[in-house]
Amino acid sequence: MDLARLASLDDLARLARRRLPGFAWDFLEGGAGAEAGLRRNRDRLAAVLLKPRFATGVTPDASARLFDQGYALPLGVAPVGMGGLVWPKSDLSLARMAAAGKMPFTLGSAGSCTIEEVAEAAPGQVWFQLYALKDPAINANLLDRAWKAGIRVLALTLDMPAPGKRDRDLRNRFVLPFRPSLAQALGVLAKPAWARALLACGRPRFAVMAPYAPKARTVDELGLFVREQIDPDLTWEKVKTLRAQWPGRFLVKGLLAPEDGTQALKIGADGVWVSNHGGRQLESAPAAIDALAAMRATLGAEATIVMDGGVRSGEDLAKAVALGADFVLTARGFYYGLAAGGQAGAERAFALMAEDYRRTLKQIGCPSTAELDRRWIWE
Ligand SMILES: Cc1cc2nc3c(=O)[nH]c(=O)nc-3n(C[C@H](O)[C@H](O)[C@H](O)COP(=O)(O)O)c2cc1C
Repeated sequence: MDLARLASLDDLARLARRRLPGFAWDFLEGGAGAEAGLRRNRDRLAAVLLKPRFATGVTPDASARLFDQGYALPLGVAPVGMGGLVWPKSDLSLARMAAAGKMPFTLGSAGSCTIEEVAEAAPGQVWFQLYALKDPAINANLLDRAWKAGIRVLALTLDMPAPGKRDRDLRNRFVLPFRPSLAQALGVLAKPAWARALLACGRPRFAVMAPYAPKARTVDELGLFVREQIDPDLTWEKVKTLRAQWPGRFLVKGLLAPEDGTQALKIGADGVWVSNHGGRQLESAPAAIDALAAMRATLGAEATIVMDGGVRSGEDLAKAVALGADFVLTARGFYYGLAAGGQAGAERAFALMAEDYRRTLKQIGCPSTAELDRRWIWE
């Protein structure tokens, strides 16, 4: 497949769907319950309209700054746990893409490559996402390793007080311990590109967490260990303790309520990451773009706010920035690319986003990312 003929992330998604076994596609694409929340992220973004201004003579500057660092665009890669299942070594490929594209990549604590190898692949551009774990010694060791590897931005995810109910995974019996049915095993044989890539790299692992569960012999055992370790009883007091343990920049991920944003800043977070986990946790959560606007209205112009959820084009990116995001991320957008064409596919996803964002700034007559705000929203 000539990747240059794929004109959008939706095109990449269609190809990805054809190349992945059904359970892997469903794991990537699925949302909570009947997926109304998943659809809402996209529908509400589509409902936002931009207000173009013409004859401005501007040559836009699409670059962005966050935490004193410059990036090509206000765009980064959001964390995905067990991404190696969708495409082998996904964390490493996406980190390399991010390094080449001058973009941040977030490694998840449920990631399938080690902190050290990913940090080395994109020096200065890797962020680390932590699920607070029950064992404080593991939290401390993860933070220590991340810091020593050169990572300077930490995102603590709060929106997992209970695992989401993902109906697709339940129907596929894609739950731990995973015992593929005969039909699923045969389905894999029908996806030679995926099977070849997986065979070349070996079975995906929870590489970030593996050192903490030496007794876990299989991926399933390790998965159960990780799930068991995620602290379901987080409090702001515990968040504050983790904040104090991290010398770098600290984002709180998964917030929707403006009150929680206020609380995050109060305990010393450097910014708020508005997200509904890509519609995977609470089906009746608000769309990320609506929560973003509410968060900005409450926290004011100076607070650092990043967001993710349903962003699939440069126009989506522009809308999120205009409605108050200092920085925007996507997870599935880049995974569509990976599954469609490996690292080259992910790079195609990035190129499409970059071209479209630059074109959008020019089309609406906005001089720069820094100046893009509600003046360019059709209200
Ligand atoms: C397959 C998958 C796994 C994810 N795993 C994690 C995770 O381990 N930690 C986390 O904070 N967010 C996780 N997320 C949520 C993403 O980081 C992000 O918030 C969301 O997917 C953004 O929406 P988008 O995929 O529509 O761009 C995951 C998302 C997907 C699709």
